[in-house]
Amino acid sequence: MRLGIISALAEEQHGLIEALQSPYKLVHGMREYTGGKLWEIDAVCVLSRIGKVAAAMTASILVEKFGVTHIVFTGVAGSGDKNVKVGDIVVAEELVQHDFDASPLFPQFEIPLTGLSRFATDTALTQRLATAAAQTTRVHRGLIASGDQFIGKLTQIQGLKAAFPDLLAVEMEGAAVAQVCFELGIPFAIIRTISDNANDNAAVDFMHFIKTVASRYAYEVIENFCKA
Ligand code: ADE
Repeated sequence: MRLGIISALAEEQHGLIEALQSPYKLVHGMREYTGGKLWEIDAVCVLSRIGKVAAAMTASILVEKFGVTHIVFTGVAGSGDKNVKVGDIVVAEELVQHDFDASPLFPQFEIPLTGLSRFATDTALTQRLATAAAQTTRVHRGLIASGDQFIGKLTQIQGLKAAFPDLLAVEMEGAAVAQVCFELGIPFAIIRTISDNANDNAAVDFMHFIKTVASRYAYEVIENFCKA
């Protein structure tokens, strides 16, 4: 196994680079890839930057240039359900691109020529991540929606919840990684700590959360995951 670990922002991956043994660095396409041993696991860590295209490019390069065999995305997300609270963790079982709409040629949300609107995460990796996360905080498993929008208005999150009643969290990268991994046949998992409620307070809560809690969670969960 060679594990690719992606986060959008530095705060979401804090400490992991420092934890890599015998690290090596390579800059490619405006990103710095750092490889090495992470608690006995051969790993490559990278910041994707923000949004679906950025995440898709990063996942593709990890596979094609760095030879990773598995991918985990760790970061923060807005809540998509009243039972999912700030500080909880959501481990994705399915991902959807909530801003994808090629209708009337294809059904809304369906990714053309795949026949799918939802991409499933790898069962074994997801189970291992959820078990690792449960040692840190409360864990939910289910649907995460991604789009090239920060969801920061109550009406926006209400609209998404109406479209996806089983929605647990919203973010901006996971479903892009999911599509790339589906197309390349790479097992993947997505874990998100809830930083805000994707409502009118989202931007302020998000900024506060990533500065305080996000980094500690990512580190703890990945450590437990690698040691398992
Ligand atoms: N990541 C963290 N919070 C988010 C939100 N409210 N919308 C989109 N991505 C997020």
